[in-house]
Amino acid sequence: MLNPNKFIPKAVEEISQEIKSDRAIIALSGGVDSSVCAELAYRAIGERLQPIYIDTGLMRTGETERIKHIFSHMNLDIVYAKERFLAALKNITDPEEKRNVIGETFIRVFEEEARKLAADYLIQGTIYPDRIESEGGIKSHHNVGGLPSVMDFKKIVEPIKDLYKDEVRKVAWALQLPEEICERMPFPGPGLAVRIIGEVTEEKLEVVREANLIVEEELLDRFCPWQTFAAVIGKGTGVKGDIRAYGWIVAVRAVGSRDGMTAEALELSWDALKHLETRITSEIPRVVRVVYDITPKPPATIEFE
Ligand code: XMP
Repeated sequence: MLNPNKFIPKAVEEISQEIKSDRAIIALSGGVDSSVCAELAYRAIGERLQPIYIDTGLMRTGETERIKHIFSHMNLDIVYAKERFLAALKNITDPEEKRNVIGETFIRVFEEEARKLAADYLIQGTIYPDRIESEGGIKSHHNVGGLPSVMDFKKIVEPIKDLYKDEVRKVAWALQLPEEICERMPFPGPGLAVRIIGEVTEEKLEVVREANLIVEEELLDRFCPWQTFAAVIGKGTGVKGDIRAYGWIVAVRAVGSRDGMTAEALELSWDALKHLETRITSEIPRVVRVVYDITPKPPATIEFE
């Protein structure tokens, strides 16, 4: 059992020892993992830490504004890099290649920012299941296996690499981070790109972003899932008005889990599912079909790619 009050001073001490009098940057995503790392690193090296948030264009609705607001007390550097990420992802359809391209683009952007700041260290919120899944060859979680082999940093520091998600949340509470962060649902590093099957395009991103917002509004408070989201899984034939429409198929996922290593689909009520379908197909006219994924992990994974 992790004792956060013992873990915190130890982690802070280790970060100080590692970075000494140098400067570091941290990739802040607004999730609990990177927020915990930012707070630990801030306690260790203070103003020599520069938190950076990259707007990849692969984030959910309102994410950049939310992060600006929550971290307004830290001198947050926001880098707008949507065009760069979309250009790098053009024509890429393989999920692992997608992760690698995103990991590579992230690191290159961070290297550029680090150079401007003369920071030699990159702090990352990698957690234990990310490493297991990457090392085990299940998925290259972008903050681990998707990293390029040559990087312009003296070192990557990963203060919570041995913790499970529920342990990270305990540490977040002990660090007195806002509840909104401590209990925030996990969101994958490569963002909405892994909720789109096949090539990432502006159109699919718009659809998946709108669908994720509806799913969160409908399911988060009502069913308290470990994770819930929507994915665009392809195109299919439908009828809109009296006319044949070839539109998008949206899959909805809502799972219970302890740590993301295994998961069970939640048994949602029919009225909740029906209401979701009605909202998604009417508010996003380009969607002709909504399906609910009942597959546990294994054999599926939580995300679709
Ligand atoms: P999977 O899809 O592997 O997801 O069953 C398990 C948990 O990890 C998240 N996930 C990722 N997180 N980079 C991340 O930082 C990734 O590439 C990635 N892929 C999946 C997923 O959202 C779930 O919480």
